[in-house]
Amino acid sequence: MLVNNAGIAVPDGDGRPSTVEIGTIQRTVEVGTLQRTLDVNVYGALRVTQVFLPLLRRADAGRIVNVSSTLGSLGALTSPGNPFAEIPAFAYTSSKTLLNALTGWLAVELASTSIKVNSVCPGHNATDMNGGVGAQHPAEGARVVVRAATLDADGPTGTFFDVNGTVPW
Ligand SMILES: NC(=O)c1ccc[n+]([C@@H]2O[C@H](COP(=O)([O-])OP(=O)(O)OC[C@H]3O[C@@H](n4cnc5c(N)ncnc54)[C@H](OP(=O)(O)O)[C@@H]3O)[C@@H](O)[C@H]2O)c1
Repeated sequence: MLVNNAGIAVPDGDGRPSTVEIGTIQRTVEVGTLQRTLDVNVYGALRVTQVFLPLLRRADAGRIVNVSSTLGSLGALTSPGNPFAEIPAFAYTSSKTLLNALTGWLAVELASTSIKVNSVCPGHNATDMNGGVGAQHPAEGARVVVRAATLDADGPTGTFFDVNGTVPW
């Protein structure tokens, strides 16, 4: 099993699409918040996945879990009254949307294998990422990750869920 858990939320320079710090291209590229975030949360997950895929293909029941966030759900974003819509963090949230795209595309690519690929949201956990203000202990959040990592052969692939069930893409 592979759990793509590593992720960052860059405290400086994130914001709404109109203001998020992209970085500038002059003679050299200055890496901005958006790129730094995508580097870890998307490219990192993809790179690690590509490296581990040969090993996962040799497993009887390969499982890939992308640790995403409801903040990356476009369905949640565009539903009326969504409280997350006010969060000025385009870099972080869109990185999770893209991670979800990896889940969907990889699940389709691997559909004929025994490997299952899913995104999960672990909920709002008190970790370093948010300075410990999360609502629950990380051990609680880990439960849904473990569930996705230990799905049996009848379990889903190409889905996005949290402790309460399906999360819209
Ligand atoms: N906390 C929440 O409420 C929440 C909610 C939804 C989703 N998530 C997601 O859950 C995952 C875990 O986050 P967390 O809350 O546990 O945050 P965290 O305490 O800040 O942990 C982040 C982890 O990612 C690793 N990491 C960061 N950059 C890396 C890099 N370039 N290479 C390798 N490892 C790197 C860190 O390793 P080092 O310690 O060695 O730097 C650390 O183990 C993330 O994907 C996050 O987006 C968190």
